[in-house]
Amino acid sequence: MKAMRAVALAADHAGFMQKARLIEHIRQQGLFEVVDFGTDTEDSTDYPDFAKKLAVWVVQEPERQGILICGTGNGMAMVANKHRGIRAAVCRSEYEARLARQHNDANVLCLGQRLTGDGLAVAIVDVFLHNVFEGGRHRLRLSKIRNMEDCP
Ligand code: RB5
Repeated sequence: MKAMRAVALAADHAGFMQKARLIEHIRQQGLFEVVDFGTDTEDSTDYPDFAKKLAVWVVQEPERQGILICGTGNGMAMVANKHRGIRAAVCRSEYEARLARQHNDANVLCLGQRLTGDGLAVAIVDVFLHNVFEGGRHRLRLSKIRNMEDCP
């Protein structure tokens, strides 16, 4: 039997409520092993600490995916994209999430709880988790990104 795909979620204090909602939704589907890297309270935290934990975990296995939530999604994406092998995309629409998977093979989705309501966030997550990379012409472009990961 094929192992369940694994998805991790992490948030700062500005995203933890949406994280809880998304974890509940993903677990209900019964299709993914869900890993929760915190945070779970409104106590002020620093998003780089949570993005780093998740990024380090995602790059350990090729099929792993991650979802990061902060106030806007931007800080989380900036940190995640510092890690070799991470392709993190801030998405505020289902369209962006679909193309982030199909064209960019994004392995981390970044959401902004202050900008995207829970209902849309759930829809974006579903699109992200259930679309696949198209390959083809996009493969060369991703290899160009990979080559830049060693730039000074
Ligand atoms: C926290 O106030 C906020 O700055 C953070 O959640 C995030 O939006 C940063 O990009």
